[in-house]
Amino acid sequence: MTETNQTIDLMMQHTSVRNFTEEIIPSEDLETILKAGQMASTWKNFQSYSVVVVQSQAQKDAIYAYQPQKSIKNCAAYLVFVGDLNRAEKAVKMHDGNFQPQGVESLLISSVDAALAGQNALLAAESLGYNGVMVGLIRDQSAKISDVLGLPDYTYPIFGIALGKAARLNTVKPRFPLENIAFPEKYIEQTTETIEKFDQVQDEYAGARRLNKWSERVVAQWGVPEIPSSTENLKAKKLL
Ligand SMILES: Cc1cc2nc3c(=O)[nH]c(=O)nc-3n(C[C@H](O)[C@H](O)[C@H](O)COP(=O)(O)O)c2cc1C
Repeated sequence: MTETNQTIDLMMQHTSVRNFTEEIIPSEDLETILKAGQMASTWKNFQSYSVVVVQSQAQKDAIYAYQPQKSIKNCAAYLVFVGDLNRAEKAVKMHDGNFQPQGVESLLISSVDAALAGQNALLAAESLGYNGVMVGLIRDQSAKISDVLGLPDYTYPIFGIALGKAARLNTVKPRFPLENIAFPEKYIEQTTETIEKFDQVQDEYAGARRLNKWSERVVAQWGVPEIPSSTENLKAKKLL
């Protein structure tokens, strides 16, 4: 077993926090968190994302009105990670090019960039003694959230991160055994036995937290048609 270190210890202790104290995050800490986020790898250094930093109660409440998760209302800062090809449009226009951002590849590039920056930012925040939770369900109301944030063409909201000082910490949530996720040399398709075993692991963990079965949560996501709001909003923002 590798000798551990502070960085790995921090990663292994990660747990999402949804309840915060009233403590604010000083601006210098917030800047450090955002700058650490920026240093994540990014496709061709295009940095195809932006972050809207929401600290006013009025803006938090406006977002909460469309996605009522308590973490949004009660956090110290709510960072909304936005897929962003708006700067790319300016660059292409500057060179008299024909801007063609529509399609899945552009969405993958910008969503992956945003996710990496977001994860770096969350980890940096955790290293400074803050905690947080990513909130992807803002996409249920993509157009409304875009309006609240003033997002222009070629941009779309992906997820927020509610940050603050933890009022309560959950114990670390279990993950699949590594052999169900990481395969030597070639992909190994898993059986339902893997799923049943993980349902049990999750049930044992969830006892205290009263969460639904893991596989039932999967059905709630992928046993129904996807929400239309992201596709509609991406079309409105000229990305599809
Ligand atoms: C992209 C993304 C979106 C998420 N959206 C939400 C959300 O809308 N609400 C929420 O409570 N948690 C959300 N989460 C947090 C996950 O539920 C959480 O990371 C997962 O259950 C694992 O728990 P842990 O982070 O405590 O280890 C999101 C996580 C990710 C990566």
